[in-house]
Amino acid sequence: MTRLAGKYALITGGTSGIGLETARQFLAEGATVAITGRSAAGLEKARRELGGTVLAIRSDAGDSAGQAIVATDLAGAWPQLDILYVNAGEVTHRPLAEWDEATFDALMATNLKGPFFLIRALLPLFANPASIILCGSVSAHIGLPQSSAYAASKAGLLSLAHTLSGELKDRGIRVNGLSPGPTETPALGKLGLEVQAEAALRDDIRRLVPIGRMGTPLELAKAAVFLASDESAFVVGTELLVDGGVSGI
Ligand SMILES: NC(=O)c1ccc[n+]([C@@H]2O[C@H](COP(=O)([O-])OP(=O)(O)OC[C@H]3O[C@@H](n4cnc5c(N)ncnc54)[C@H](OP(=O)(O)O)[C@@H]3O)[C@@H](O)[C@H]2O)c1
Repeated sequence: MTRLAGKYALITGGTSGIGLETARQFLAEGATVAITGRSAAGLEKARRELGGTVLAIRSDAGDSAGQAIVATDLAGAWPQLDILYVNAGEVTHRPLAEWDEATFDALMATNLKGPFFLIRALLPLFANPASIILCGSVSAHIGLPQSSAYAASKAGLLSLAHTLSGELKDRGIRVNGLSPGPTETPALGKLGLEVQAEAALRDDIRRLVPIGRMGTPLELAKAAVFLASDESAFVVGTELLVDGGVSGI
């Protein structure tokens, strides 16, 4: 499997869940891979799991000024960047009344502002052709209670697939959204719920999915391989929903 042979790929949030599995699949397809994450221990664990050849960069996706450092690190290590997968995301869900300005700003910084400035910082490094994949969410399309700020951040990010494709197409850079539906990852466990509440939430989520189950990180990673590879050369400025039918049925 060499669909990404010779390509250099950066995945933000590559230490867990969808990002970690995508790093595994990108490597299996022949890419050279870098991942980001916030904790040194998490990065080291992922690096070992992925076989040690991965470049691990400690970076908080919500630190927009710090995104330039990621670009500098990559430029020092690699000749070019062929694939950027903006995957790191904050998934906080809560009732409208419980949001305050600081938590809203932090979520928007991680999910929208940081990615915007990361893409900007990486501009000199992008190859021609190059593929940028933005991790959206089916939540941007449905009215799920308590998802207001999260869904808005993802809708904003997905909008960049259209506008930046228009702006960057002459440089050979394609930008597309990849939107998961409910997917079995460690993210649910990070919401701080009691065991029973988490199990109940899991049941609620499963009922939301027409095909009756959650997706797997591998199913998302396979879609990311397609969008990253030249097989999707005619796929530009759009969104691939991998959501078990949540948005479409
Ligand atoms: N799972 C789902 O059901 C689902 C559904 C729709 C969309 N999504 C989206 O899919 C993406 C991946 O989610 P997942 O379910 O795979 O979650 P996950 O297992 O919790 O993994 C999240 C990854 O992002 C990293 N991360 C989080 N905040 C970060 C930050 N501020 N800076 C840098 N890295 C950060 C985490 O690393 P560290 O903690 O080490 O920093 C980790 O590697 C997210 O954008 C999420 O919104 C997920």
